[in-house]
Amino acid sequence: MAVDQMVSKPHERLAAHLSAEMDAVNTLIRERMASKHAPRIPEVTAHLVEAGGKRLRPMLTLAAADICGYGGPYHVHLAATVEFIHTATLLHDDVVDESAQRRGRPTANLLWDNKSSVLVGDYLFSRAFQLMTDTGNLRVLRILSDASATIAEGEVLQLTAAQDLRTDEGIYLQVVRGKTAALFSAATEVGGVIAGAPEPQVQALYDYGDALGIAFQIVDDLLDYAGDTSATGKNLGDDFRERKLTLPVIKAVAKADAEERAFWQRTIEKGDQREGDLEHAMALLDKHGTIEATRDDALMWAGKAKAALEQLPAHDVRDMLRDLADYVVARIS
Ligand code: IPE
Ligand code: IPE
Ligand code: MG
Ligand code: MG
Repeated sequence: MAVDQMVSKPHERLAAHLSAEMDAVNTLIRERMASKHAPRIPEVTAHLVEAGGKRLRPMLTLAAADICGYGGPYHVHLAATVEFIHTATLLHDDVVDESAQRRGRPTANLLWDNKSSVLVGDYLFSRAFQLMTDTGNLRVLRILSDASATIAEGEVLQLTAAQDLRTDEGIYLQVVRGKTAALFSAATEVGGVIAGAPEPQVQALYDYGDALGIAFQIVDDLLDYAGDTSATGKNLGDDFRERKLTLPVIKAVAKADAEERAFWQRTIEKGDQREGDLEHAMALLDKHGTIEATRDDALMWAGKAKAALEQLPAHDVRDMLRDLADYVVARIS
């Protein structure tokens, strides 16, 4: 049996199939995260990078290039760029969210401080841009710089949508598309662009990444209430504590009676959270079946992602991307 059929999870199968190229990506990441002048940089980046991470986004870039028959070297640079942007956003995100755990380890903001996380995040963003200029392809520069701006926009929109019970599913979708799906869709799109794929294929890759990213973040938000810390490597209840209107809560607020509404107003709008409130919030999500309803939405987006793949040429890797869309909804980590 081929190595890539012996592992069960689709992202592991994809990683096994793309292992030579992923090794090249990881080597490039290690090379470019170094800094001769500021030892704090490799300390912080090594802490995060060596903790692993699923490397989903760089795999998407490699997979897209592969499906489109790319034979050159630059998909590796683009994949590393995408993971750098991702890592930079995680450093910033954990400061903004005041998170204590990431990839099963204490966050950099906890181990060092907010200043180090913000500045090393900035360094990684800059390294990402240096890396992508190596490709000499203006269109991929445009796509990835647009994505970076969109991610920041999504995070800022979320900031103002948090603590506001009027936040509805439309605003939620805008936030999620920005902060998460933008990098997924850029990751797949640049793989097609660097390969010189025909426009309908580039569009299909974009659509796949967009829908996959939305499904992925919906599930991430669901796991924040219904997940298992030892599997996710993140704390449970971070979103409630941060007073975020994520999909399970938006759906519960829409169904709330007067007493429940008062609970959401106190905990989310006023931020007056007490012992037992997280458990009560979870009970309300359970009462209104919003975890299941949220999972159904994620399934719908995974379906859209799979539909987009139909536009791409038949390929082993295309089949793995189809399985990945199912896995993203079924995942527990
Ligand atoms: C975390 O992404 C940030 C979100 C968009 C939810 P991942 O779950 O892909 O993080 P790592 O890289 O595997 O740690
Ligand atoms: C993920 O945001 C998106 C970015 C990092 C830009 P979240 O705050 O929802 O992700 P986690 O749960 O911390 O990984
Ligand atoms: Mg966060
Ligand atoms: Mg966040």
